[in-house]
Amino acid sequence: MNPIIAGNWKMNKDPVESRALVQQLLELTGDVKNREIIIIPPFTSLSIVAELTRTSRIKLGAQNMYWERSGAYTGEISGVFLKSLGCDYVLIGHSERRHIMGETDEIINKKLKAALEIGLISIFCCGETEKEREDGRTEEVITRQLQHGLKDIEDQVHKMIIAYEPVWAIGTGKTATPQQAAEVHAFIRSRLQKQVAVLYGGSVKPDNVDALMSENEINGCLVGGASLKPESFARIVKFNR
Ligand code: PGA
Repeated sequence: MNPIIAGNWKMNKDPVESRALVQQLLELTGDVKNREIIIIPPFTSLSIVAELTRTSRIKLGAQNMYWERSGAYTGEISGVFLKSLGCDYVLIGHSERRHIMGETDEIINKKLKAALEIGLISIFCCGETEKEREDGRTEEVITRQLQHGLKDIEDQVHKMIIAYEPVWAIGTGKTATPQQAAEVHAFIRSRLQKQVAVLYGGSVKPDNVDALMSENEINGCLVGGASLKPESFARIVKFNR
């Protein structure tokens, strides 16, 4: 399996800025082999990024989706639309959606089920808060998130990607050490019935990606802030083990 590097732009980059960023990324990563590169822009930039990356090795993902295919759900986006736009991936259960938008494990479970039916590959995010880690509850929290998120679909987990994103490391500049991440990745794997790629996310930068990716347990990275600058994202894609 090739290592996977995914860039989550969050609510950044309007359509004009998105075009410029992708054009630079295409130049900087044109020579990359043996890496899966996924870009996850805001909805408003998906079609532009889809058009620009069509003939490249860069794949497209969305940051969220609704679980119904269509209907009276004002302001929501159907996974079917994402698929027809050229998305192969969708982020589900990102900690910002859990903590700011109030998404529960039950909502996440509905979205994971819908994505499976549509044939989108979910990047299913889990991770503990700082307090939960301090209280020694990391494994308990991850177990709950996996169990409830994957209710009725655990036998299909090999069609998804899991992202371990400790909440205390997201956007804070505090990265989990490679050992801390590898420990939780091994734990996640031990809880699942099937082989699955597990990405690490949380302040991944050009200067820590090599050490993180030297851990066998870490199959790739989900990058936030550092994916907004073409040079730093390209350097992360081109990590050295
Ligand atoms: P960060 O975000 O790299 O800015 O910490 C990671 C994420 O939220 O996926």
